[in-house]
Amino acid sequence: MRLSLNQAADLLKQGYVVAVPTETVYGLAASLNYQKSIEKIYELKGRPSNNPLIIHLSDLSILDSYEITKPPFFEQLTEAFWPGPLTLVLPINEESIPSNARAGLPTAAFRIPSHPLILELLNLTGPLVMPSANLSGKPSATSPEHVENDFGLEFPILDGGACRHGLESTILYYEENSWKIVRQGAISQESFYHVLGYNPLIAGTSKILCPGQLYRHYAPQAKLILSHQLSHLKNEVIIGFSDKSYPESCRVISLGRISHPEEVGENLYSVLRELDRRGIEKAWVDIDFPREGLLLTIAERLERAAK
Ligand code: TXA
Ligand code: MG
Repeated sequence: MRLSLNQAADLLKQGYVVAVPTETVYGLAASLNYQKSIEKIYELKGRPSNNPLIIHLSDLSILDSYEITKPPFFEQLTEAFWPGPLTLVLPINEESIPSNARAGLPTAAFRIPSHPLILELLNLTGPLVMPSANLSGKPSATSPEHVENDFGLEFPILDGGACRHGLESTILYYEENSWKIVRQGAISQESFYHVLGYNPLIAGTSKILCPGQLYRHYAPQAKLILSHQLSHLKNEVIIGFSDKSYPESCRVISLGRISHPEEVGENLYSVLRELDRRGIEKAWVDIDFPREGLLLTIAERLERAAK
């Protein structure tokens, strides 16, 4: 069910869960004021209760009401990347944020999104918590149709068209005197250099700084086989790039041009979802591309989708 901006705001203010667009992926939103609605999000997604949610704000000044601790370079990071696809995990005064939004952690994740509709909505509703609007484990939703596929045609959706980035926000966490990337995303590792003077390290999984990294993610039903070498294939389905060539007998589903990684990011989840829609059981994925910039995030998503 498609809603107007005012309808979406009214439902959220009454404690309902509504799917909303952001510039990264669609989110399943609830007001931070309704603990029951936050619980409902976990239920709807089938999300483990120890996986916290991101709090979305319209304005930086709201952060001060949560008594956050601002790590070094906080101002520079927010100045450079907000509104936009950056999430910061910050130590907070625990009493200021419902425990189920942060899965009981002494920190909370915040971001100011840049999609004009979600900013207008946040101005009407106040802070919203939202995970990506997909069933837990599935590829994220980057269009209203994706949300409908997972939650049904009757689910309330604020339609903001297709998401511009198509990849989730990059999540940073400050630990041991430096910022670390705890989830790769729409802002590449190298993009932080001009602000921080270093490339934040990508945190490994040995110590869990971001609970979401523990779980199966982004995976279609179809079996994905990642490969650097596809020239020997015959009559297979290949997920590849429109500016590369593949064996003639194969059916190629294109992620866009590898020379334009933003295009690949934008299409990634649509393509993964399309495999299941078309009932394709197995696909080979071309991963013969450099691990830099946004392509590093894309490679990580493909690896996790194939697990
Ligand atoms: O682009 C995005 O970030 C999208 C849109 C809707 O804003 N949201 C999104 O939410 O991707 P979700 O729930 O799919 O992923 C949020 C990630 C999870 O991996 C979670 O573990 C992590 O953020 N997270 C949230 N709060 C955290 C905290 N306090 N400490 C560490 N990780 C946290
Ligand atoms: Mg998600």
